[in-house]
Amino acid sequence: MNDQVLNISQKSIQLEDKYGAHNYHPLPVVLKKGKGVFVWDVNGKVYFDFLSAYSAVNQGHSHPRIIKALTDQAQELSLTSRAFYNDSLGEYEHYITSYFGFDKVLPMNTGVEAVETALKLCRKWAYEKKGIPANQAKIVMVEANFHGRTLGVISGSTDPDSRAGFGPYLPGLEVIPYNDSNALAKALEDPNVAGFMVEPIQGEAGVVVPDQDYLSKCKALCKEANALFIADEVQTGLARTGRLLAVCGDCNCKGFCENKYETRPDILILGKALSGGVYPVSAVLADDEIMLCIKPGEHGSTYGGNPLACKVAVEALRVLKDERLDDNARFLGKYLRQELRKIESPLIDLVRGKGLLNAIVINDSPESSTAWDLCLKLRDNGLLAKPTHGNIIRLAPPLVITKQQLDECIEIIRKTFIEF
Ligand SMILES: Cc1ncc(COP(=O)(O)O)c(C=O)c1O
Repeated sequence: MNDQVLNISQKSIQLEDKYGAHNYHPLPVVLKKGKGVFVWDVNGKVYFDFLSAYSAVNQGHSHPRIIKALTDQAQELSLTSRAFYNDSLGEYEHYITSYFGFDKVLPMNTGVEAVETALKLCRKWAYEKKGIPANQAKIVMVEANFHGRTLGVISGSTDPDSRAGFGPYLPGLEVIPYNDSNALAKALEDPNVAGFMVEPIQGEAGVVVPDQDYLSKCKALCKEANALFIADEVQTGLARTGRLLAVCGDCNCKGFCENKYETRPDILILGKALSGGVYPVSAVLADDEIMLCIKPGEHGSTYGGNPLACKVAVEALRVLKDERLDDNARFLGKYLRQELRKIESPLIDLVRGKGLLNAIVINDSPESSTAWDLCLKLRDNGLLAKPTHGNIIRLAPPLVITKQQLDECIEIIRKTFIEF
């Protein structure tokens, strides 16, 4: 490695350290280029990206069709605000609502904004339609959830790192165990429960997959109690788990089933890969009965629904469908888990996941540095992954990965674990 390049790398890290808030602990690698499943560092070394920006880059880095949509629109009109109509928003709204089978969409930017939007919408519906007395609405969440970082959302978090030191917290949130429909049934006995919000598979918690019938039971319980079933698919949605949405579960619909799945959420939250990783685009989808509870002036965002975001999102969704990325994630995910389970290493406690959202649970305490050290070795061997919750390594490549590329990655992982 020549001195000049080494210096660029060190300099970038030093600059972030000196001038940026210390709210992240990145793996020491400085990236400057991405294409498909690959990213390159400032030294020109190439890596397989096994994080995909926390599942925002499902379509692969710099997908040519998405980049074209972005650059074409950037030269026409990027932002109008919602003070005026624009010629892209309506088209996008039509496209995305047909795609997922909902009456309406409310466009936002980041994942957590969409989550906050869903919480507000749920409360509004509770007062206007369910008849819950003013300021009494409760929303049920689950332990070890991750829905983002705003004050409202961390008020329902059980992760001390996310929550501690930021009080006082938002009232009206109740937390129950995950994957426990009896606990939900009990919580729903309270007539002031407006909704239940859940990640169909818990991503940040370490790719925790619930029992097969958990989501359908939750949906049925919510329906019976006249409470809204809210699915946060910011990380799991958009083909990541081998179906268009993780709530589709194993329904045999080929993924793009438009509405037939029995776990259809009352409110669906999307983000991340809705732009293929080129721009922050998030969305909340619901039917009229719910969505029309919010009226002009009651919610919004300057950038939400801007023409650039709309064009990018339409193309990102088209790419998912045209390239059948749900099928690829389903088939290759199964293969990946099968091959990882063959690795004979005392360090591997468990391999779990669905589609191409997977994790290796390391046989060591969450406080140990083993998973971090393994990720450093994976990096040296040409694959980028990041530990979550100390002893879990998430494996989530872009969904455009081929079988041949995946075989190379499995070999890197095998070699790294054996040599460690
Ligand atoms: C399930 C889930 N919801 C919400 C968010 C927040 O998204 P953002 O970081 O874009 O605000 C995340 C981010 O990882 C997530 O995984």
